Amino acid sequence: NHQLIQELEDTIQNIPDFPKPGIQFKDITPIFLKPDLYKDVIKDLAEFSRGKIDAVCGIESRGYLFGIAIAVALDVPFVLIRKKGKLPPPFVGQKYDLEYGSAEIEMRTGQIKSGQRILIHDDLLATGGTTEAAALLVQKQGARISQFSFLIALEELGGKERLKQFEAEVHQILTY
Ligand code: PRP
Ligand code: MG
Repeated sequence: NHQLIQELEDTIQNIPDFPKPGIQFKDITPIFLKPDLYKDVIKDLAEFSRGKIDAVCGIESRGYLFGIAIAVALDVPFVLIRKKGKLPPPFVGQKYDLEYGSAEIEMRTGQIKSGQRILIHDDLLATGGTTEAAALLVQKQGARISQFSFLIALEELGGKERLKQFEAEVHQILTY
């Protein structure tokens, strides 16, 4: 696991001042140039959730990159949480606040079942706004948030605190 962290740190590129001045953008795209590294990432994330979940919900779009592979590795369903306006009805939606303005995510009705134990997966936990909205959306469907997993968590932005209300396990491979 130390080795995995090291290789990820060497692979992920830090892009200063993108997309806005002051933001350190983590470019994860080089991971997908290294199939063996990608497989090790999936192994780590899948082991965290093995036996503990009934379905994975992944958040558009970077949450799909690892989320589907986690679900396949664990033989559980994968449910897409999409940005507003992409899914046909019936769907349920959840608004959330951005730094400026607001956004909304949606999920097809009936794809997760009441009582299921859900993993919410995304590539990155920053302020936690996106993940919190996803968790509220899952709860609206009567399912239980069992776990959250991320490739990266940015600790200073308070995302972890924001997720405490759900009383779920949280795992990330890299912490900045
Ligand atoms: C990024 C990232 C997370 C979210 C984290 O997605 O992939 O989903 O922001 O930020 P937060 O914790 O402050 O909510 P983005 O909205 O840029 O879209 P993308 O995944 O489609 O690239
Ligand atoms: Mg995203």
